[in-house]
Amino acid sequence: MLTGACTPAARRFAAAAALGLLLAQSALAAGDTRNLISISEDERLYVLQDMRDLLATVNAVVEAAGANDMARLAASAKAAGMASTQGVPAGLPAKLPGPFKQMGAEMHRGFDQIAQDAQTLGDRDRALGQLARTLQLCVGCHAAYGFGSTTSMTNTQQSPATAKGNKP
Ligand code: HEC
Repeated sequence: MLTGACTPAARRFAAAAALGLLLAQSALAAGDTRNLISISEDERLYVLQDMRDLLATVNAVVEAAGANDMARLAASAKAAGMASTQGVPAGLPAKLPGPFKQMGAEMHRGFDQIAQDAQTLGDRDRALGQLARTLQLCVGCHAAYGFGSTTSMTNTQQSPATAKGNKP
């Protein structure tokens, strides 16, 4: 114990130890604080492909803006509009929380708006401002949600791990 031997060095040590404990506790508490949504493996693969397409869209829009090619910008943005949600697996929406779907829909409408305004107004600065606001929905959703343990109700195929003979 430090009682009775409270030299400045001992106090510094105690303070450092307390700080260390505090940091360790906050690191533990941090963990993954997102809401983890449970969906099937097929659905997860579908959504992640969709996500990679979204990133490619952002790339194409920014590239077109750099070239000041507003027709190309409009066409690129359109690819991530509401029409792109047509092929969503039937059972998926019911598994997604309301705010998740709202953010998703708002994001797709954002791309439609970018496309429409780019076509009619041809204003690059406006398009970039709209893109920045739309990207806030990507950032916001990623901060709030992740996919957790997946269910495999619809997936009767073997996972790659078991197919290779590995124990899961
Ligand atoms: C409504 C919610 C939501 C929105 C909006 C959203 N995402 Fe995602 N995104 C997710 C979730 C959930 C994951 C999976 C994260 C996890 O499980 O760790 C993900 C994963 C990703 C990934 C990783 C894909 C992979 O193969 O692992 C990329 C890239 C991505 N998103 C890009 C985007 C971009 C770009 C936008 C906006 C233009 C966007 N997302 C908008 C929910 C969203």
